[in-house]
Amino acid sequence: MVKKIGILTSGGDAPGMNDALFGAIRAGYKLNKEMYVVKEGYRGLIEDKIEKVDKNYADNLLTRGGTIIKSARLPEFKEDKVQYEAIETLKKHGIEALIVIGGDGSYMGAKRLTEKGINCIGLPGTIDNDIASSEFTIGFDTALNTVVQAVDDIVDTSSSHKRCAVVEIMGNHCPDLTLYAGIATGADYIITSDTNTNIDKLIEELKILKTKDPDHVLILVAEKLLDTNALTKRISDETGFDTRLTVLGHIQRGGKPTAMERVNAIRMGTYAVELLDEGIGGVCIGTDGNELIHTDIYDALKLERNTHQDLYDVFNLIK
Ligand code: ADP
Ligand code: F6P
Repeated sequence: MVKKIGILTSGGDAPGMNDALFGAIRAGYKLNKEMYVVKEGYRGLIEDKIEKVDKNYADNLLTRGGTIIKSARLPEFKEDKVQYEAIETLKKHGIEALIVIGGDGSYMGAKRLTEKGINCIGLPGTIDNDIASSEFTIGFDTALNTVVQAVDDIVDTSSSHKRCAVVEIMGNHCPDLTLYAGIATGADYIITSDTNTNIDKLIEELKILKTKDPDHVLILVAEKLLDTNALTKRISDETGFDTRLTVLGHIQRGGKPTAMERVNAIRMGTYAVELLDEGIGGVCIGTDGNELIHTDIYDALKLERNTHQDLYDVFNLIK
């Protein structure tokens, strides 16, 4: 039976990672495990940044965004040779199982380590919500609340001047933060990889809208899709709306995890340890409604993401 379990966070940090750590450590000690943290993601496995922690290690971290054990991106972890170095370090400490909190890149690393003999469990940690094996990822709820709060604030000032606000929203190539925030803030337009927005048509619509003298106009744009500076200039130049751009950026990644985030992250952390205790590895954990589920990492990486057509329908009905 597995006795020593390691935990690392990898890829972009996300609020709730510390809560998952807390859940795993607490459950680990309840189930008579020794718990180890690996600092700086996969790099900590190569540079031997591993520390045994006690039951109370994460007690004061529940309210803290980011990840206390640090995260990193280590492109060379794709190489077999580097993965074997990681296995050697783990063996040196007698660590037989590893919990990896990160996105699908990190899951690939977990998959490779499992193939090489270390049972790994992946937890979905990213604000982007781009992991198909989980309805919601750790970090999404908090980031969504941060985005909505910021956009609400922008609307306060924007509507005071009857302006048009363009807000660029982080989320890598995943539309979810933009889509959910668009509904929650009553945006006039959302532009994501799913909307196929025709910008010329949008400009024509805004020209007509301008003649109706609206209180304000709000346009949310998912990052990495188009040049938001150029879009903002075009709207200003061609529609008559005084227009301002805000790029939310990394502010979306920080901050106190919401209560639901904490509960879900802690649940996922405890579930990971329970699965490892049963000898189950090579899987990743996700949410499905109120249930926690686990999926083979191989299968999980092949799943298509949910395109949320139902939510686009809602958006169009309230527009
Ligand atoms: P995320 O986990 O948030 O998707 P990345 O895609 O940047 O973030 O991946 C995080 C880390 O996972 C990478 O820096 C690398 O160390 C590891 N990783 C990514 N892809 C692979 C792969 N194909 N094989 C092994 N490790 C990988
Ligand atoms: O994956 C999380 C994320 O914040 C994406 O939303 C964003 O595109 C990317 O990471 C930013 O990465 P970095 O922190 O390296 O700038």
